[in-house]
Amino acid sequence: MADSGPISFARGAPSYDIVNVEGLRSATRAAAEGELKWATPYGSAAGFEPLREWIATRHGVDPTRVLVTNGSMQADAFLFAELVSPGTDVVIESPTYDRTLLGLRECGATLHAVDLESDGINIEALRSLIEDGGVRPALAHILPTFHNPAGCTLSLAKRVALLEIAAEYGITVFEDDPYIDIRFTGEPLPRLLDLDKSGSVVYASSFSKTVCPGIRVGYLVAPQELAAAITTRALNTYISPSMLAQAVVYEFCASGEFERSVATVKAALAERVAVLSASLRERLPEAAFVEPEGGYFLWVEFPQAIDSLHLTAAAKERGVIVTPGTEFTVDGGKHAVRIAYSGVGASEIDEGVARLADAYHSLAQ
Ligand SMILES: Cc1ncc(COP(=O)(O)O)c(C=O)c1O
Repeated sequence: MADSGPISFARGAPSYDIVNVEGLRSATRAAAEGELKWATPYGSAAGFEPLREWIATRHGVDPTRVLVTNGSMQADAFLFAELVSPGTDVVIESPTYDRTLLGLRECGATLHAVDLESDGINIEALRSLIEDGGVRPALAHILPTFHNPAGCTLSLAKRVALLEIAAEYGITVFEDDPYIDIRFTGEPLPRLLDLDKSGSVVYASSFSKTVCPGIRVGYLVAPQELAAAITTRALNTYISPSMLAQAVVYEFCASGEFERSVATVKAALAERVAVLSASLRERLPEAAFVEPEGGYFLWVEFPQAIDSLHLTAAAKERGVIVTPGTEFTVDGGKHAVRIAYSGVGASEIDEGVARLADAYHSLAQ
């Protein structure tokens, strides 16, 4: 086995080579040109106005429904603080984004985990939780497109069914959607936000996966009243987010660098996912996974005899880092790992899988 350094499939961040650094440089220059009287004082709590309007136009909503935040994690935190208090019933997917689990736990939510299938949340199980189990969730956190960590995408039929349930039982659906632009194959699906007729959806997305995470710009689209309440929360928390960072993102978007960046990331990740899938099929035929149509992640299920914590430890010893499935569930994921292929170049992926396979075979003996 070639002896290169450690290979990390742990972080859902783009590798430097696929960040549009030149675009970022010219957007920064453009943002800093001329008078900076708009950037030096505190700005609007709802975010840099031109970016807010760009986002509103993109989603066909009034700008008063948009709040631009320090990454979408900040949007999540504001929303949870607004809607969740100790004992609030909240539906989460199983598995789900680990930081969502942390955030909701911190608010004291009573979590109801509903299993994911290859086409998204199990709608029958959700219905049964409500109708047979008598649970009345205030909020459902849903990652419909290119799921983190599962890689799957919610089908159109399930999107419609989910919104029907939300409207019927007054559930706010939190559509956590930072990966939607990174589609490599298949037909685009409408956002839940676009399908929603009853004002059930609060939408969050981010520029972390399309521009870069270090810029820390994300956003929320919410019904007007909720957006206003969250804007007050933002004002009371930090007065305003960084106008300069948001102005750079605005210049990046308005100049067409955004589309260039998305095209680069898509092309690179399509190649990585193809290499990764082929390598997994060849080296780990015992492993099951859904090949993602987009996004940053692939979820691998191993046979029951394999403990994901033992596997990730053995993998680390062999110089490859993957994340145990247990980090993404309340009490499952014991035989699964998440592989983030966004940070590893195609040329290193097969070597990473070879190390993982070696770790697996050391345990499966
Ligand atoms: C589902 C999901 N939501 C939110 C985020 C956080 O995004 P941001 O960097 O905008 O805070 C991530 C980042 O990995 C994510 O996977």
